[in-house]
Amino acid sequence: MATGVRYPAPGEHRTGDSLRQMHHVEVKRRMGEADIAEVSVLLAEVAAADRHRPLGEHKWLDLVHGGRTGFAGFVARDRTSGRLVGYAQLSQGHHTWGVEVVVAPGNRDPDAAVGADLLRAALDEVGRQGGGHVHLWVPQPTPVTDTMATSSGLVQGRDLLQMRIALPVPATAIGDAPPLTTRPFRPGQDEAAWLAVNNRAFANHPEQGGWTIDTLREREAEAWFDAEGFLLYERDGQLAGSCWTKVHSDCDPELGEIYVISVDPSLHGHGLGRALTIAGLDHLARRGITVGMLYVDAANRAAVHLYQSIGFALDHVDRAYTGDVAPSR
Ligand SMILES: CC(C)(COP(=O)(O)OP(=O)(O)OC[C@H]1O[C@@H](n2cnc3c(N)ncnc32)[C@H](O)[C@@H]1OP(=O)(O)O)[C@@H](O)C(=O)NCCC(=O)NCCS
Repeated sequence: MATGVRYPAPGEHRTGDSLRQMHHVEVKRRMGEADIAEVSVLLAEVAAADRHRPLGEHKWLDLVHGGRTGFAGFVARDRTSGRLVGYAQLSQGHHTWGVEVVVAPGNRDPDAAVGADLLRAALDEVGRQGGGHVHLWVPQPTPVTDTMATSSGLVQGRDLLQMRIALPVPATAIGDAPPLTTRPFRPGQDEAAWLAVNNRAFANHPEQGGWTIDTLREREAEAWFDAEGFLLYERDGQLAGSCWTKVHSDCDPELGEIYVISVDPSLHGHGLGRALTIAGLDHLARRGITVGMLYVDAANRAAVHLYQSIGFALDHVDRAYTGDVAPSR
């Protein structure tokens, strides 16, 4: 791990001169039903406090479906009451490990003691599993989460922007281009073509690239999946691009997400990305959704420019911290 910084030993928390054993961290390679139920309560508590649902969707699916290579859950409990005070999750992505740390609202202190212990346990596990590049995603970063990340030897990396737009999009933002003729995704038939274009378009993307048929089928099996909102655009019988939308019915107001959008790299720069985004937003607006939303990497200049020009504005930032962990055996 790229660190020379000293941090307290696991489960220890300095308060003045005393060193108290506040919590302990347990590693779980597979989460049982009771663990998942307990973590779900923690996630709901944190979502209500932060107005942001922790544990991104990829990680939530890893937790629920379990068993993926490299998966580990880390459970921090109060030593006295046994209560869950934090949870971290490790998963292995394309070229990189992903970690997310969730700390109960009542257990956040300026030293980030619970979070730092969870994070260190996760980084140790990466070392045990052969080491590698690590991303820690922090939604709505604060000085406390900065402390947690940097005290564990990670450095600030990518910022992910959540952008939003009021729907329907005004005609002035759409311009004169005729609407694109799309068709819904056909489960069981379109997977191979979609994966080929997606993986070409996101060739260098740590989470969105390198999808397999299993990654896609898992999403298709989710309750929110709606093939009618997964729009494909073909040219000369070949898939040229797609706009996959996702409705977050658990938000108030409901959010309509541009979930994955990609254009075959051989066709970039010809207005397809713009037309597909508008087609997706139009689909959402026709379903009665009044707020469109998406996540975009701040460094993805083409996409940020595209979304801003349509009228999307920044809602908040999620921050990645990164580091390289050496193998420990
Ligand atoms: C983002 C993406 C969908 C855009 O598709 P596209 O068909 O190339 O986009 P368009 O031709 O419609 O261009 C849209 C706007 O972006 C601009 N743009 C395109 N490439 C750009 C670049 N490299 N840098 C800056 N602006 C760029 C265009 O000039 C255009 O702006 P304008 O309408 O003001 O002239 C496409 O680049 C892609 O598939 N990228 C890989 C996957 C991805 O990053 N998806 C988005 C994740 S949130």
